[in-house]
Amino acid sequence: MIVVQVDVSGFLLAELRKTIAAHKKAVTEADTTTADEKARACATLCRQIAASSPLVRQRYTVEAERWESITSRSAPVAAGRQRRASDKLGRTKPPVEESASDLDMSSLIARSSVRWEDIGGLDEVKRLVKETVVIAALQKPESIHPWKGILLFGPPGTGKTMIAAAAAGSLDATFFDVKTDRLLSKYFGESSKMISALYASARDHAPTIVFIDEFDALGASRSDTMGEAARRVLSSLLIELDGLQGKKDDRLLLTMAATNAPWNLDPAVLSRFPRRIYVPLPDADACRAIIEIHMRGLEVSGIDLYGLGRQCVDHLYSGRDIQSVCQQAIWTMINDVNPEMHRLADLPFDEINRRALKIRPLDEGDFAVAFGKIRSPLTVEELERYTEWDVKHGER
Ligand SMILES: Nc1ncnc2c1ncn2[C@@H]1O[C@H](COP(=O)(O)OP(=O)(O)OP(=O)(O)O)[C@@H](O)[C@H]1O
Ligand SMILES: [Mg+2]
Repeated sequence: MIVVQVDVSGFLLAELRKTIAAHKKAVTEADTTTADEKARACATLCRQIAASSPLVRQRYTVEAERWESITSRSAPVAAGRQRRASDKLGRTKPPVEESASDLDMSSLIARSSVRWEDIGGLDEVKRLVKETVVIAALQKPESIHPWKGILLFGPPGTGKTMIAAAAAGSLDATFFDVKTDRLLSKYFGESSKMISALYASARDHAPTIVFIDEFDALGASRSDTMGEAARRVLSSLLIELDGLQGKKDDRLLLTMAATNAPWNLDPAVLSRFPRRIYVPLPDADACRAIIEIHMRGLEVSGIDLYGLGRQCVDHLYSGRDIQSVCQQAIWTMINDVNPEMHRLADLPFDEINRRALKIRPLDEGDFAVAFGKIRSPLTVEELERYTEWDVKHGER
């Protein structure tokens, strides 16, 4: 699967933040030359960020202009005046910084190129998710409220992230990819503000899918300090979700949350996600479909793929394990027909570039090696826990 993470300008944003801090320091120390130089650098960085993506173009063009106006104002000033300016700046926030949390939103935006056909099996899950997305977009009577949130739960590597990415990809929607633990640690103390900034930005960029991964991190370990941050984030999130519930809005703003540990979720959270969809391990047919996806462009016609699929089920493989099996089998085949490949490393790059990698059709022997190497992290008991939770709380 190819998810193109458009981190609009991670590096530039980091630079901008550093430069704003350096500007602030220079202003505090009444060092006008450095302050001016830093303000100029901020303006340039804002212009570069604006050029990096149409999503942020307007906002950073405005920021760039504000920084430019600062440089033209501060250029000839005396130190005394600059110090007063610094007092003033201390009270009124400098440009860009006031929107620091909004700044970081852009790094959460990804453009998804995942399509439904990249996902093998999971037909029922796909149907439920497609239905949710479509109903949100259709014209409908006011009393019909579309779902605003979907919870995807199931063992690791079963395609939960892919499903959310495909929902966004198929609609060409903006995809906010939020990793809960990163949100909690990186923006510690500010993370609950991040949630409102996130939803404000999500509304601006609609149609939008907000994907919250590792969702259970918000409900877990309430005693430590992280628990406190998590609790605040969680309550901001619930407020946002409740706010969405009441609103009549034709633009899609869907929150999809994923977890491997649904039993850790707070009942208050669960009640906001009435649509809870189990993403299970693939059955034999689905395993075969996943193998075919990961073997695209290679010859596998001599293999009993359904038989392989059944073996995958016996090994309790997830889609991710099957992908590893396929990679391993491909490497076995490549090493088999290119035993001298490493020797090519002595040649100049252009010379290597002119040669083609030898390949042959894959056979069951290649897969047998792979089955020996890849182990599922799951046990039958763990799987039963998912099934039981699904029976009690899942979509029926
Ligand atoms: N149904 C599937 N079809 C094709 N590939 C799959 C499928 N499920 C998983 N994969 C492969 O496994 C990788 C991991 O899938 P994904 O990230 O969607 O799993 P996940 O359920 O989100 O896992 P986690 O719970 O660990 O976050 C994908 O990048 C893809 O290569
Ligand atoms: Mg995932």
